[in-house]
Amino acid sequence: AVANLKGLKQGHLRLCVITTAKYVIPRLLGPFCQRYPGIDVALTVTNHEQVVERIRGNMDDLYIPSYPPDNVDVECHPFLDNPLVVVAPSQHRLSQRHGISIHELEGEPFIMREQGSGTRQAVEKLFAQHGVSINIRLELGSNESIKQAIAGGLGISVLSHHCLALDRESSQLTILDVEHFPIQRHWHIVYPAGKQLSVVAQAFFDYVSTEGREMIESSLSYPPLPQTTKELNP
Ligand code: PGA
Repeated sequence: AVANLKGLKQGHLRLCVITTAKYVIPRLLGPFCQRYPGIDVALTVTNHEQVVERIRGNMDDLYIPSYPPDNVDVECHPFLDNPLVVVAPSQHRLSQRHGISIHELEGEPFIMREQGSGTRQAVEKLFAQHGVSINIRLELGSNESIKQAIAGGLGISVLSHHCLALDRESSQLTILDVEHFPIQRHWHIVYPAGKQLSVVAQAFFDYVSTEGREMIESSLSYPPLPQTTKELNP
């Protein structure tokens, strides 16, 4: 049971976030849990398809997917930008080029996320729109493994910019300046429509959408997005 005695919040908080949000949400939990030591948190990190399954099953208090699920009635609040960028090893032949045509990626060995990944869906859609057929060399179910595989020279991929935060091996990786990238997406905070949030879930919602958000924007360091691509895609 959730108690809210003398302003002291207590209870359980179940969160379910998209794979790319695992780079920032655990950071935000630190100050939140210090402020409310009576709250214990369970955090599930999974891909888009599984997040949608969990929303349908009402398994958690709050969800952070990249885009609102189809055919499920939800309250949906845009939270943070989630640009998807083309990532290559720093030594890549295209790494110094600007305004690379998307067609130049044809034939490049490509590392693709698993079925059910929202990133994969977005990438397939963009390439299909431009009639680009990519050469999938490897399919991997984790952004982390994809980064290692890129650094290991197995190919290029498309990842959320958030996957490149904070990290030492990010220096072995580079963002390619390809036209039509970044794919502009946004994380959302979602819960089933009409659901009465618990006191604890409401406290977390208020925290992430104000201070938590500011903390991410001010404290995480990312490699810069290619400027020319940004201008091409206002
Ligand atoms: P996913 O994440 O590819 O793990 O489903 C989607 C996203 O964060 O854009």
